[in-house]
Amino acid sequence: MSDPATSTVHARYPEHLRQQVDEFLGSLWFNVPGEPEATEARGTEGLAEAMRYSLLAGGKRIRPVLALATAEALGRDPSELMPSAAAIELIHTYSLIHDDLPAMDDDDLRRGMPTCHVIYGDDVAILAGDALFAEAVRLVCEEQGGGPAVQVGILRELSRATGVAGMVGGQYLDLKGAGAGGPEALAAMHALKTGRLMAVSVHIALVLAPPPPEQDATYRAFARELGLLFQIVDDILDVTGSEAELGKAVGADERMGKVTYTSLHGMERARELAAESHARAMALLHQLPGPVDDLAAIADTAFARQS
Ligand code: IPE
Ligand code: IPE
Ligand code: MG
Ligand code: MG
Ligand code: MG
Repeated sequence: MSDPATSTVHARYPEHLRQQVDEFLGSLWFNVPGEPEATEARGTEGLAEAMRYSLLAGGKRIRPVLALATAEALGRDPSELMPSAAAIELIHTYSLIHDDLPAMDDDDLRRGMPTCHVIYGDDVAILAGDALFAEAVRLVCEEQGGGPAVQVGILRELSRATGVAGMVGGQYLDLKGAGAGGPEALAAMHALKTGRLMAVSVHIALVLAPPPPEQDATYRAFARELGLLFQIVDDILDVTGSEAELGKAVGADERMGKVTYTSLHGMERARELAAESHARAMALLHQLPGPVDDLAAIADTAFARQS
């Protein structure tokens, strides 16, 4: 399938981790065509098709790659965290499917292809998102190693990052126009709608391989910064990006009257704020002992990406 993101991420982006993520996602039971028909899920092939249409459409996979790179920095084999890293990509994809619905951002292009609801209808797209979330939980329960304490710890992180004080709460603030409340309200909204799913990618690695407290705090501060940076750049790209590279419509925020970093601060200041955020993220990384090259490349990608 098409993958418009591949060519334009940062040169040092850990492609080997992205490849491992893509392989794992492709092997999930509902992504094997015909498999649902062979189980008690008989008759749901159309639903599974909608799920895999969006999930396997490409994308940077930056959240699972971030999770694996953090595990690596903490001295673990990244594959130990794969089921939970993949779970975050399932949740992220569900959030995109719902974000694109006519009742939300009403977008018809995503990852270089027509959005899920354009192909399968709003009803099936809603269910595909719901099912991806449930499959994410199942993955952690059934496939994540490390025992019950690690599994519950990761589920706790994922549910907190996704719920009212997380992505879904942030999406609510977005659709209610909370960003109009000023720079702090906008930053708070970004921290929830995008920051929490990005940050939790780091947090699940901290559950698997807890470092000493000072390092834990530095990882968390880095994760928070990266999440904010990512959405500031997303706002900028909505104005300056190209549809071909982004794989999604540009100018969508203005069309919907969204308050964004560029509409509130102006393009020049938004770029400065992104650069400041990137610099803070890099400074935090330099305080960490682990091999942080891949994490640095991810932060560079979040900052300099065109897709
Ligand atoms: C897009 O996320 C939605 C935001 C939270 C800004 P990505 O830019 O990570 O999209 P994909 O996964 O690469 O398609
Ligand atoms: C989406 O933010 C955040 C989530 C999906 C949680 P946007 O609405 O800015 O994302 P894009 O620009 O459509 O990818
Ligand atoms: Mg949105
Ligand atoms: Mg959107
Ligand atoms: Mg956007």
